[in-house]
Amino acid sequence: MAKKIEEYYVPWVKGIPMYISEHIEKAWRNPALHRMMSNENPNAPSQKVLDAMVKYSKMANRYPDQGLVVRTKIAEINKLDGPQNVMLGNGSSEVYDNVFRMFIAPGDEVIQHTPCFGIYGLRGKLLGATMVNVPMVYKDKYLHYDPDSILKAVTPKTKIIVVANPNNPTGNFMDAKHFVTIAETGIPFVIDEAYVEFSGLGMSQVALTRKYSNVIVTRTLSKAYGLAGMRFGYALAAKQVIDQIAGSLLPWNVGTIPMWAALAAFEDTEGLAERVHFNNSAVDFITESLSEIPGFVVFPSKANYILFDCGATGKTGKEVLAYAETKGIILRGESQKYGSDGWFRVTIGTQEENRMFVDTVREFFGMKK
Ligand SMILES: Cc1ncc(COP(=O)(O)O)c(C=O)c1O
Repeated sequence: MAKKIEEYYVPWVKGIPMYISEHIEKAWRNPALHRMMSNENPNAPSQKVLDAMVKYSKMANRYPDQGLVVRTKIAEINKLDGPQNVMLGNGSSEVYDNVFRMFIAPGDEVIQHTPCFGIYGLRGKLLGATMVNVPMVYKDKYLHYDPDSILKAVTPKTKIIVVANPNNPTGNFMDAKHFVTIAETGIPFVIDEAYVEFSGLGMSQVALTRKYSNVIVTRTLSKAYGLAGMRFGYALAAKQVIDQIAGSLLPWNVGTIPMWAALAAFEDTEGLAERVHFNNSAVDFITESLSEIPGFVVFPSKANYILFDCGATGKTGKEVLAYAETKGIILRGESQKYGSDGWFRVTIGTQEENRMFVDTVREFFGMKK
């Protein structure tokens, strides 16, 4: 008798479903909804980026090259030696896939600092890794990085440590000295800087890649640059590490259009500055407007989202989400943690959406508009 198909699957991939982001599906089906849930940028691409997209769409019959021009530009922005320090991906999510493939065998461990972005776990599990969750510390109503616990979680099986700088959803940065301590372990250390441009590259840990070959910094154009739908991300690391992880790249993984549109986005420094300024003013506006609600905790954010904990008000995050939905606003829920069920996250929207969000939340908590 022939064996069943199930018996042929690699054991650790059995039952892994396709990743579907329900709220994104819903938002595309109903464009009238206010997408304040996925850390997208509310502003459309700049004319310079659009021009590059149109120009290169006319050459879409040709295969892309390996992106030496845009990689050289990225190296220059980050004060690295050259394109040999840069690997391109179809969004930074793909970059984790490439990096993880090069270090992980089934049974190996990946340390992540929770709460954090979910894709590390998804890619890790696909390769048979055990995800080791080290929770951030809840103290004085805020969530803090806990580098000591990260170090204590290291075992001989640890193949990757991943830490976001700043973290999603908490919005804070880890102290620079703690990045050094973790880098000193020699364990492949992925620093996810998806949102760093909102604070400026002065907050980046990219300089560590010059000293520590185990440090790999990841970035994306999905956030401050506002090109999430285009899919463009990259890794920064020492030449010998990029040489090795680039071995896992699918040929032509980044198309000609995203590659040249990305170059236009990097050259459009004004476009980036406008988006960052817009975002940071909106973060201030929402933070100030909602901090007045008694018992409502607003996490100080250095990104394009803000985490809240309304547990002490007697309401749950889910109740806020449901109320916001009645107004057409989609927010992001968070699981119960640290003894509170009051967590939720908002992504900065347009000016009108931010005002609507603030009015909705204030109204829900019985405050004046
Ligand atoms: C911390 C973090 N890293 C990476 C990403 C992935 O970005 P992309 O795959 O669009 O580059 C996200 C997206 O939400 C994120 O929150």
